[in-house]
Amino acid sequence: MQIDYLSDLHFDNYFRADDFNVETIVKFLKSLFKNKKSDILLIAGDFGHHNEQIVFIVEIIRKYFYKYIVCILGNHDYYLINDRISDIYKANSFERVKELRVNLNGIDGVYCLNGNTVEVEGIKFGGCDSWYDGNYLISLFPKRDFSYYSINEMWKNCLNDYKYIFEVERYDEIFEIELPKIEKVYKECDVMITHINPSIKIEHAQKKYARSQATAFFAFNGEEFLKKGSMKYWIYGHTHEKKEYEISGVKALCNPVGYPHENLHFKLESFEI
Ligand SMILES: [Fe+2]
Repeated sequence: MQIDYLSDLHFDNYFRADDFNVETIVKFLKSLFKNKKSDILLIAGDFGHHNEQIVFIVEIIRKYFYKYIVCILGNHDYYLINDRISDIYKANSFERVKELRVNLNGIDGVYCLNGNTVEVEGIKFGGCDSWYDGNYLISLFPKRDFSYYSINEMWKNCLNDYKYIFEVERYDEIFEIELPKIEKVYKECDVMITHINPSIKIEHAQKKYARSQATAFFAFNGEEFLKKGSMKYWIYGHTHEKKEYEISGVKALCNPVGYPHENLHFKLESFEI
């Protein structure tokens, strides 16, 4: 069976948040899905900044393009990007995430995973949003002694996550929430989905930024899960670079749409299971 996959759609970089014109959205989606090979689409997070817009577009994808959508959320789906949105969710990113997940799961045929599995056409999908753990930095500079405080300061300064994710003060706070969810499903699924790259190997990072300290916030050390898990494929996003690598017979695949200036050569990918 073929399964299509992508990530990092960033809808509000393609459409204004108040643009609910079905025709223009369908036109955009038609070009995105022109290589469609499956009735199942996997989306590895980063839908955008506006819940109503995200749910509206996912409903269109479901109605016109795919029978089933299995997804998780990305760091941008936690962002409260302006005062109006922050007021709606009482300055708490987790309130936004909760609403988005409930509304996505409310669409027939859509499964937004949160440390659980779902079986679709005989294939078991498991996943969660996941998070970075900072270990990339430690493996990149093994001789340097980074304090927790210095990594946290780095995180505050080099990523927008600290600025726009409310109720989070530490870079690995969400990792602590997400880790037990990975542990719950990694031995129970054929396909795993997370937003974050599960490898801290330099050759598995985005080439351009592989030696950058900021890449600490683009991966977590998931090698044990790849080695001991039941999955054949691990789909991830977050980095806006297409990637494919293998660890212990598990294929890790990343196929981001990315921002408009990045997506000139985007091609929908699929794998056979
Ligand atoms: Fe991301």
